[in-house]
Amino acid sequence: MTNKLGIGFIGSGFVAKFHLQAWRGVRDADVLGIYSPNQQHAEATAAIARELRVGKARAFGSIEEMIAAPEIDCLWLCGPNHQRIENMQAIVNAVKSGKGKLIGIACEKPLARNVGEARRMVELVEESGLLHGYLEDQIFAPGLTRGREIMWSRAAKLTGRPYLARAAEEHSGPHSPWFWRGDLQGGGVLNDMMCHSIEVGRFMLTQPGSPRSSIRPVKVSAQIASLKWSRPEYVASLSKQMGSEVDYKKRPSEDFARATVNYVDEDNNPLIVEVTTSWSYVGAGLRLSLEVLGPEYSLAMNSLDNGLKLFMSREVKGDAGEDLVEKQNAEQGLMPILGNEAAEYGYESQNRYFVQCFLDGKQPEESFYDGLEVCELLMTAYMSAEQERTIQFKPDGLESYVPLVAQGLWKAR
Ligand SMILES: NC(=O)c1ccc[n+]([C@@H]2O[C@H](COP(=O)([O-])OP(=O)(O)OC[C@H]3O[C@@H](n4cnc5c(N)ncnc54)[C@H](O)[C@@H]3O)[C@@H](O)[C@H]2O)c1
Repeated sequence: MTNKLGIGFIGSGFVAKFHLQAWRGVRDADVLGIYSPNQQHAEATAAIARELRVGKARAFGSIEEMIAAPEIDCLWLCGPNHQRIENMQAIVNAVKSGKGKLIGIACEKPLARNVGEARRMVELVEESGLLHGYLEDQIFAPGLTRGREIMWSRAAKLTGRPYLARAAEEHSGPHSPWFWRGDLQGGGVLNDMMCHSIEVGRFMLTQPGSPRSSIRPVKVSAQIASLKWSRPEYVASLSKQMGSEVDYKKRPSEDFARATVNYVDEDNNPLIVEVTTSWSYVGAGLRLSLEVLGPEYSLAMNSLDNGLKLFMSREVKGDAGEDLVEKQNAEQGLMPILGNEAAEYGYESQNRYFVQCFLDGKQPEESFYDGLEVCELLMTAYMSAEQERTIQFKPDGLESYVPLVAQGLWKAR
């Protein structure tokens, strides 16, 4: 058995670069390959990996070629949502034809655009025989995992389990056009970002060491809206930034979503996960927030309230950038700075965990099965929002359900 893994990335976009930053804190694997349909992008991202000294990465012209390379042991699947099944099919075909020596695959959130596709992802990974991980970085965020550990071992142990988790992820809108298109992305902000908050809420309410099944979702109620981006002035500015295919007058996606997921624990006690998410939040940058309530305690976190702040007067007239915080909205005033963003959001511990599992030949606890369950909850939330009622989980028709937003049929106003 090898003692250091070689990792190949499928995709060379925003998230791949975040992973490379995080890789500086991962010791048991090097990034050795990058595939992107655009060879120049793959070359550029491979150069970043080499500059960061996270591996002697080279660009590959196809997924098959990368899998066949003897130095590649595992894949990090970081392509856009609408290419998931195609990417996964290419991986399975290559593995089944005897190419390479893959051990495992880790797939970015969301696992797929809808339940039908998520189930197909599960079937494909089972067919491949590979170990599999679902990349939900936030449940690996060091502050959050430490807080969970202490909350459960001290407060919950003496006074009872936590019963309410509130989680939110908000920013001013995604960076690439495909995120804004319901057909390509699978929905709007609900599909894109609520996947994080749903999983964070479930994670905080699950006792460390207990299985996922120790708490069980029973019903979902949700609401979606377009608060900002279908306003005429923002329809025009969005098309200007993202291209004419992003037309929020004709085919809007929601930029706000909230959901309540009711769970029960093993003794049938009620538990609640409340989540809210938006692409219509203009603050310093991306804001992750979390609260957990228990009988004699509460826990709270806000990623923008991290202690380190830089004040810049009106005389500081620099270029727009994202060097202070992801999805940064300003370069003046009192601004938060995150010391090691990729680590604080959880990418570093996440990648370290999956690498160790793959190295030890162990199936990771956070897997494609979890990605499927998250997708089932998200699609039930869309159903609830469309029907304006609470829906018992799991509803009939979930397997073939595609939200109106993803069909281009949703009416914003
Ligand atoms: N964990 C997180 O917080 C987080 C953050 C951002 C994105 N993501 C997820 O990561 C994935 C990629 O998002 P992104 O922000 O990097 O998007 P992006 O638009 O910045 O980059 C997408 C990349 O996909 C690649 N690509 C294009 N067509 C492809 C194909 N046919 N096969 C394989 N790769 C192809 C290209 O290299 C492109 O650069 C998405 O599924 C997204 O939901 C997760």
